[in-house]
Amino acid sequence: MEVTRRAVFAASASAPFLMGAGSAGPDATIRIDTGRTRGPIDRKVFGNFIEHLGRCIDGGVFQEGSPLSDSEGFRKDVLAAAKNLDVSLLRWPGGNFSSNYDWMDGIGPRNQRPRRLEMAWGTVENNRFGTHEFLDYVAKLGAEPYICANLGTGTWTMAQRWVEYINCDQDTAITRLRKKNGREKPWKVKYWGLGNEMDGPWQMGHRSAEDYGKFAREAAKLMRLTDPDIKLVAAGAANFGPGSDWIAWNRTVLHYLKDYADYISLHLYVGNPKNDFGDFLASSLDLDQRIEALSGVIDAAMAGRQDGRKMYIALDEWNVWYRARGPKQRGRDILEEHYNLEDALVVATFLNSIINHADVVKIGNLAQMVNVIAPIFTNDHGLYLQTIYYPLQLFAGNVRGDSLKLDVNAPTYKSPRFDSIPYIDASGALDGNTLVVNVVNRHLDQPISVAVALENRSFAGPVKVSEVNGPDNKAQNDFGKTLVKTTTNSVTASGNTLTYSFAPHSYTQIKATLA
Ligand code: AHR
Repeated sequence: MEVTRRAVFAASASAPFLMGAGSAGPDATIRIDTGRTRGPIDRKVFGNFIEHLGRCIDGGVFQEGSPLSDSEGFRKDVLAAAKNLDVSLLRWPGGNFSSNYDWMDGIGPRNQRPRRLEMAWGTVENNRFGTHEFLDYVAKLGAEPYICANLGTGTWTMAQRWVEYINCDQDTAITRLRKKNGREKPWKVKYWGLGNEMDGPWQMGHRSAEDYGKFAREAAKLMRLTDPDIKLVAAGAANFGPGSDWIAWNRTVLHYLKDYADYISLHLYVGNPKNDFGDFLASSLDLDQRIEALSGVIDAAMAGRQDGRKMYIALDEWNVWYRARGPKQRGRDILEEHYNLEDALVVATFLNSIINHADVVKIGNLAQMVNVIAPIFTNDHGLYLQTIYYPLQLFAGNVRGDSLKLDVNAPTYKSPRFDSIPYIDASGALDGNTLVVNVVNRHLDQPISVAVALENRSFAGPVKVSEVNGPDNKAQNDFGKTLVKTTTNSVTASGNTLTYSFAPHSYTQIKATLA
């Protein structure tokens, strides 16, 4: 087999711990049998999230009167950047906000909508962006909407009538109201959340698993009676703090909701407060464990059913979030994380984990889309793309088809949290004859040479190589400064093995055509 590489990628610096370093052989292998799959990757895993929080919607997605906005108030530059992210599913209106949101406040003429005290984040909600604005925005974005109902301070009727307003085509007082507000036909929103993080004491309307399970089941029943075609997401545990039993919460919730909900949510935010690169880069192992534990709870709840009903995981909030976090984050310009390269690498490893659990994770929403812990950052004059934008773009734009079960053999290291962390983190997807392999080199300062070996197929010519990297792991982007971005090159491969040297602290996507 012949492999040609551009010289810039071929160099392998001396690396004492790496077997192949300085010698001819690779340091690691990724073996691929394209018949070994986990089944289809659901496009909805490349979703995003907008909440009435800080400058995410007001000042991000939506800025009335700005020269950068269209006649409806949507920021055109933000919309273009979001479109380039291939957002498949957009969650709204929260988050914690959803637990004090009355959707009736956000319909009708904008100038007549009430200003309400917003208790989740300590502001006043002007309600100028409501149901119609959200659904118009999602249509412009080319995404699918996912609405989280208020099961905190809200009532069963409030949730049911929201489904009726949006999805019902019968002639009722509620659907007449929709028509009066300018929308003749129902939108038919399919994905609905049964509340947000209801296990968290921080949540308005927080309750016990038993109380939530019973309450959400009746809400689900009414919502389903209104539209039997909707898909429902139960609020899984999000409180991973000391003393919380998140598995017990999920078990109880599924006891009540397994006949109604189609998904159970999982949220995970991670950070690097101790400035330990290796440990931080291993955060996706935490995600792997949580997905697998929750998957086991689902399996236990669904075991023995004869009706073919399935439940999946909706990872409907995830990201790096630790700097702009805590009780002081109340008011306007909050949760504004400025991301660096290592954050982007963690995002890439989370995406690998999502693809490596494609059989059970069917919804994913990065939290959030603009300004608030987000890949897109604006001011009144424009925007810049944060480091985390680039891995999201590569995954959403190119990872299609079936998730491959890769056999990865790589050197490992230890960290305070984990005993054995592979330096090479990878996922793969096959769509027809197109193979995509995503590789994160978790090593801070050494390249790692990896043999990507096909067991039953061969490479057929040019391979596109896209690398997200920057000068060092703390490099950040800013207005007018792009230190971290994607660079693209082409290599040629034939035969069954492509040996490639992955740069230190990098995420690389290899896209190849197979013979
Ligand atoms: O995404 C920010 C917040 O994090 C959300 O409002 C909440 O659901 C979570 O705790």
